[in-house]
Amino acid sequence: MPGLLDGKSALVTGAGSGIGRATALAFAREGAWVAAADLKLEAAQETARMVEAAGGQAVAIEVDVTDDAAVAAMVQAAVKAFGGLDCAFNNAGIAPYQVNAAGQKIADVAPEAWQQLLDVNLTGVWRCLRHEVAQMRTQGGGAIVNTASVAGLVGLPSSSAYVASKHGVVGLTRTAAADHAEENIRVNAVCPGYIETPMTEDTMRRKGERILARVPMARMGRPEEIAEAVVWLCSDRASFVTGAAWTVDGGYSAV
Ligand SMILES: NC(=O)c1ccc[n+]([C@@H]2O[C@H](COP(=O)([O-])OP(=O)(O)OC[C@H]3O[C@@H](n4cnc5c(N)ncnc54)[C@H](O)[C@@H]3O)[C@@H](O)[C@H]2O)c1
Repeated sequence: MPGLLDGKSALVTGAGSGIGRATALAFAREGAWVAAADLKLEAAQETARMVEAAGGQAVAIEVDVTDDAAVAAMVQAAVKAFGGLDCAFNNAGIAPYQVNAAGQKIADVAPEAWQQLLDVNLTGVWRCLRHEVAQMRTQGGGAIVNTASVAGLVGLPSSSAYVASKHGVVGLTRTAAADHAEENIRVNAVCPGYIETPMTEDTMRRKGERILARVPMARMGRPEEIAEAVVWLCSDRASFVTGAAWTVDGGYSAV
């Protein structure tokens, strides 16, 4: 059976772990060549090895999405490896605990922590978008998915910077979709609920029971369940879908 992404090239940021790694593997399973990019080169290389072990083709790229020149070089490296860029998954992100802001209410969040989180989660997506769109324009189109979150749709106590960053990603996605629809570039967001990845390990250990009590499906999602949505959104089957913020959250934001 033909793959949904046969003959396409796909770039993934945050590909060294969790949702990014699962999506890199799903892209390859559907026939795409994969550029796996991450701040941690070894983790990206491990993902590339996993893709190749499953019969796919991948390159690993080191990138810090807070560095515009590095993001430009990442896109160029993907294009050099595969001759173009058809799909991009802008997924690299960090949680409040990674900027020492876990559990802090607005007045307690240090300006540096706010800045750092927004720089990765929101401005990082914008940097990726600008270089990807510039490339896709030259090829006549493409499909981009940004990782937002249910925190891009509703508020979460003690997570102001994260929530602001993810609401920003949803707004940026909608505007990018409108800006580039005529150029045949589709831009969508995926909004995961609580997913089993290294990012949520600590939170779930501390308050997993309380969180799961709010999820209609009463469980966490798996990274592979996000990957399926991303694959479809990047595929030609989603040819009329742009500017969408698609929840994959076991019903969390529905109630
Ligand atoms: N896990 C969840 O429950 C959940 C829910 C909603 C949204 N998300 C979002 O999904 C995305 C992936 O999260 P995950 O759960 O797979 O987390 P993760 O921590 O497992 O993976 C994140 C990856 O991003 C990379 N990264 C971090 N900063 C970077 C930078 N500056 N440049 C390049 N790469 C960088 C990390 O090295 C890591 O490999 C994030 O944007 C996160 O906010 C996660």
